[in-house]
Amino acid sequence: MGHVPDTITITDDRTGKSVTVPITDGVFPSSALRELDPSLFMYDPAYLSTAACKSAITFLDGDAGILRHRGYPIEQLAEHSTYLEVAYLLIHGELPSQQELDTWTYEITHHTFMHENMRKRFVDGFHYDAHPMGMFVSAIAALGTFYDDAKQLGDEESRDKQILRLIAKAPTLAAMCHRFSVGLPFFLPDNELSYAANFLTMMWKIGEYDVHPVLERAMDVLFILHADHEQNCGTTAMRVVGSSHADPYSSAAAAAAALYGPLHGGANEQVVRMLGDIGSIDNVDEFVGDVKGGKGRLMGFGHRVYKNYDPRAQIIKQTAYEVFEVTGKNPLLDIALKLEEAALADSYFADRRLYPNVDFYSGLIYQAMGFPIEMFTVLFAIPRTSGWLAHWQELLGDEDQKISRPRQWYAGPEERDYVKLSER
Ligand code: SDX
Repeated sequence: MGHVPDTITITDDRTGKSVTVPITDGVFPSSALRELDPSLFMYDPAYLSTAACKSAITFLDGDAGILRHRGYPIEQLAEHSTYLEVAYLLIHGELPSQQELDTWTYEITHHTFMHENMRKRFVDGFHYDAHPMGMFVSAIAALGTFYDDAKQLGDEESRDKQILRLIAKAPTLAAMCHRFSVGLPFFLPDNELSYAANFLTMMWKIGEYDVHPVLERAMDVLFILHADHEQNCGTTAMRVVGSSHADPYSSAAAAAAALYGPLHGGANEQVVRMLGDIGSIDNVDEFVGDVKGGKGRLMGFGHRVYKNYDPRAQIIKQTAYEVFEVTGKNPLLDIALKLEEAALADSYFADRRLYPNVDFYSGLIYQAMGFPIEMFTVLFAIPRTSGWLAHWQELLGDEDQKISRPRQWYAGPEERDYVKLSER
């Protein structure tokens, strides 16, 4: 057969007009439609079939279960890298040299402190039982009010400074939210510790506290696995808000708010609640039957992109066993394993290509490490901050991009005249 052109031709049958556009890397410009009819728009709720941007940060292949950051497979990064090195890779596009990594680590480490007024005047102002993720979302936005230079988006040095501040302060903010919610005094960052060890120390230190190396590494691997994931809901929020040239703190607060949702980053909290409600492996089959009957969802299963095993879930499952060696096995693990086995063997889930995602096992590890269930999504937000910022930075440098403003399919009433109250 002759050469098949990489093009798509769209014909408007109402006029017989056609337009042929190139297909590049699996996408074509939907603006071609406007050449046929300027009033024509594609209807694509929740963007299931829309590439909203061009990005070089993360590549996913949902059918093959592939996740790569700047070309590096997540399996190799989880085994050989650290979260700070992956954050550098996401932001700068290349793995750092030793000197670049040392400088990056020094800069991040020396930006972990928070302005005292954030603690005394802001965090202390929350209600005693405020949910830590609600606090985190608010605190990220509040943080921006301390740095007016954050609005200078055209100043690369200022942008870089805000990126450092947000990545560095996310763990400090997270630990502050936890300590507030359990009525403990805050513990200030220790610049002698690694990123993960510093976070765990700010979380747990009361008197003597030494971070267990297995838990330090497990925390860092979990940070690596949650750092970025292409155009997920939270990152899309970061890009949409960032496209109006809002400062990066306001944009990151919007991203964190999206992550808070139970269908997104809030799922790890919902998985552990679901496993607790199931209560015993004897109840798993009944629960699966309820889900198949439409009574709720199997949280931690399914994904918009992965129609195969989420590669992160495999690594998290391995990490869980390493953590349980230190902490003792989470009793909910047996229920999770039985639930996974039952779901993977059931055509309801197979037909819908529903597999465990990143949230299915992560909560079991967090719970075994002692984190309150309300902190699970905050643990997702800490590392995702670097992914959000990498996309924010890429957006600002993308000549194709402008303020996000989609159109709509109007389905409301036609024009009609106002009716006086007395006549209604
Ligand atoms: C994350 O996008 C990302 O990259 C996100 C993330 C990241 O790193 O940023 O990977 C993190 O958010 C992971 C997902 C965490 N959420 C959950 O675990 C919540 C449970 N899962 C779902 O609600 C759901 O699978 C989504 C939200 C993840 C994806 O939903 P989609 O793509 O919109 O799929 P859908 O809702 O259209 O479902 C397709 C079918 C439906 O059945 P039918 O109506 O066709 O009969 O599958 C069913 C759904 O009812 N289905 C499920 C299900 N997920 C989908 N049925 C039971 N249990 C589930 N979990």
